Amino acid sequence: MDSFKLKNIIKRTLIVLLVTLVVIQFIRPDKNVSTGVTDNDIAKMYTIPANVQVIMQKACNDCHSNNTTYPWYSNLQPVAWWLDDHIREGKSELNFSEFGTYKLLRQSRKLKKAAGEIEEGEMPLSSFTLIHRDAVLTAEEKAAITTWAKTLSQEILAKVPPEEIEADKKRRAERERQGK
Ligand code: HEC
Repeated sequence: MDSFKLKNIIKRTLIVLLVTLVVIQFIRPDKNVSTGVTDNDIAKMYTIPANVQVIMQKACNDCHSNNTTYPWYSNLQPVAWWLDDHIREGKSELNFSEFGTYKLLRQSRKLKKAAGEIEEGEMPLSSFTLIHRDAVLTAEEKAAITTWAKTLSQEILAKVPPEEIEADKKRRAERERQGK
């Protein structure tokens, strides 16, 4: 292939890429922003110490609530799609804005799991802390939020009727036996 042809191919490819980049800017996912705090919000149902609220706000709520604080670059595609994906997945697993819609047993479990994820360094996601440096939790912050989450998890569990816990245990054991 002569160099003239090659140059042409490169030029065309670049133009196609550029046009694609421009076009995708117009395809935007809906933003995860709602107004007001609903009655099902965890903060309306349970006492959350001020320092724990601050931690949740900066480290969890962008993906686990109905209100994301969007950084400027979230207006750029394909970044917004990628963010949207995380938010959707995070919310479907745990949504603090709709915590009250969960059954007590589920609430208790999610809080215990949250403490575990933080202790293991799984949450907040490393792709998030890479950019949100203030969401890298210090040892004290980790201790504050995990202690709160575990205590509340226990308190909620104490309100669940024993037969419900028993039935749930059986269901889980059954699922495990079936290898699911
Ligand atoms: C950048 C988005 C993001 C941030 C920030 C984030 N999470 Fe998550 N979280 C996810 C996603 C996505 C999942 C589901 C996939 C997975 O487990 O990795 C998840 C899963 C979880 C789960 C598992 C739920 C279950 O039942 O399996 C818990 C608990 C959790 N997150 C708690 C937290 C807590 C607590 C924080 C703050 C300290 C936090 N997350 C910060 C995105 C996020």
